[in-house]
Amino acid sequence: MPESAIHEIVSQKYAKAATTPETCLCGPTNYDKKALSDFIPKEVLDISYGCGTPVGLSTVKPGETVLDIGSGGGIDCFQALQGVGPQGRVYGLDMTDEMLEIARRNAPIVAANLGHAQTRIEFLKGVAEKIPLEDETIDLIISNCVINLSPDKDKVFAEMFRVLRPGGRFTISDIVSDQPVPQYLQVDPAKWGECLSGALLTRDYLAAIDGAGFDFTELTTHSPWRIIDGINFFSVTLTGHKVRVNGEAIVETHVTYPGPFKRARLADGTELNRGQCVAVSPYLSKILLHPGVRNQFVLSHGPLAMDSNHPHWSTSSRGEGTCTWRGDYAVLIGLFEEVEDDDGHIFSRGIPTEICSATDVFFQKNAAVGSWFSRVNRQATDPAEVPESCTVSCC
Ligand SMILES: C[S@@+](CC[C@H](N)C(=O)[O-])C[C@H]1O[C@@H](n2cnc3c(N)ncnc32)[C@H](O)[C@@H]1O
Repeated sequence: MPESAIHEIVSQKYAKAATTPETCLCGPTNYDKKALSDFIPKEVLDISYGCGTPVGLSTVKPGETVLDIGSGGGIDCFQALQGVGPQGRVYGLDMTDEMLEIARRNAPIVAANLGHAQTRIEFLKGVAEKIPLEDETIDLIISNCVINLSPDKDKVFAEMFRVLRPGGRFTISDIVSDQPVPQYLQVDPAKWGECLSGALLTRDYLAAIDGAGFDFTELTTHSPWRIIDGINFFSVTLTGHKVRVNGEAIVETHVTYPGPFKRARLADGTELNRGQCVAVSPYLSKILLHPGVRNQFVLSHGPLAMDSNHPHWSTSSRGEGTCTWRGDYAVLIGLFEEVEDDDGHIFSRGIPTEICSATDVFFQKNAAVGSWFSRVNRQATDPAEVPESCTVSCC
C-alpha cells in the first residue's frame, strides 16, 4: 500500500478514537492514572492508546527539550512537561487533527495545573517521516505505540537522528512480532490501525535504529501483547543514544567483562569473554560513557588480570534443581545482542527462548542474572485466556 494510503487509514482510525474513547485493557501500560489525574484532565486520560510508559521510566530531566512522536491526546507530553519543569520545553507531533485539537485545548490547563507561568508545550501537525523541527534541537525523543504505524520506519528513525542533539537519546515503546507479519495482514487496512500490520521483528527494529546512525540501543522492557494467527506480538520499550562526537572521552584504555555471563556479544559483534581484558575500541568508548552501562564492566589503565577471586567476578549457573518444562520463556533484554550463561544456554536479545522450571526459579531468585530477562509463561498468553476486552482494535 502507498505511504499516503496508510497515513489516511491510520489517521481515520485515530480521529474516531479521539472522539469515541475505546476501552483498551490489552496494552501493557503502567500509568499511575491517579497521580496523573491530579494535573491531566480526564478527557486526555480517556484517549490514551499507548503500549508502554516511556516517561514513567524517569527518563525525562529538568530543563530538557522533549519531542513526543505521535502524541495523540497528549498524555505522555503532559507527563513529560511535569518532568522538564518550567525551564524545559515539550513538543508533541501528530498527523490527526482530532487528536491535536484535544491536546492543544488541554495544554494551557495542564500548564496551569502544574503552576507553570508560561505554556512551554506545543502540538505540531505533521508526520513522523518528516518531522517539522530543525536539526539537533531535541534532547529526548519519546514515542508510544506509533512507529509500528509508520509505512516507512527507516525514514522515521533517520528523522529522529537528525533532530536529536549530539548526546541526545530516545525512549520509545512500540509493538514488535516474533515472526514476519504475513502479506495478508500487511494489506488489511483494519489491521494497520490495530498496530499489527506494520510490526517488525525485534531484530529488524533494532537494525533499523542502528541503520539510522544511533550509537547503541538498550532493550528496556519486552512483554507479551497479543497472539494473532500464531504470531506473537510484544510490547517493547527501547532507549537509544546519539553519542556526542568529539565530546567527553573514556580515559581508561582497557575493559574487562566480569560476568554474570560466561560470554556476551555486543551489537557491533565484539565478543566479551568473562575475565578477558580487551583494549577499548571506538564502539566501546562510546557506550562506556554511559554510567548505567559502564558499571557493568571493569575499566583499567592497562591490561588487567581477572579471575574468580576478583570482587566483581560473577557467574550464572542455576545449580541442581528439578527441571520441568511448563511453557516458561525468557527474553534477553538490555545491551547485549547475545549471551551464554554458565549452563550453556544461549539467549539472543528480544527472542523468546524456552527455559525449564529450574532456570526460571534461578532467574527469579538471582536478581543479578534475572534482571537481564523478561520472563513469560506462554500458556498464560494463549488467546483462549485473553479476556474479550483485549480484542478491541486499538493498541
Ligand atoms: C496508538 S496512538 C498513540 C497515541 C499516544 N502516543 C498515546 O500514547 O496515547 C497513535 C497516534 O500516532 C499518530 N500517528 C500514527 N502514525 C503517525 C505518523 N506517521 N506521523 C504522525 N503521527 C502518527 C496517530 O494519529 C495517533 O494519534
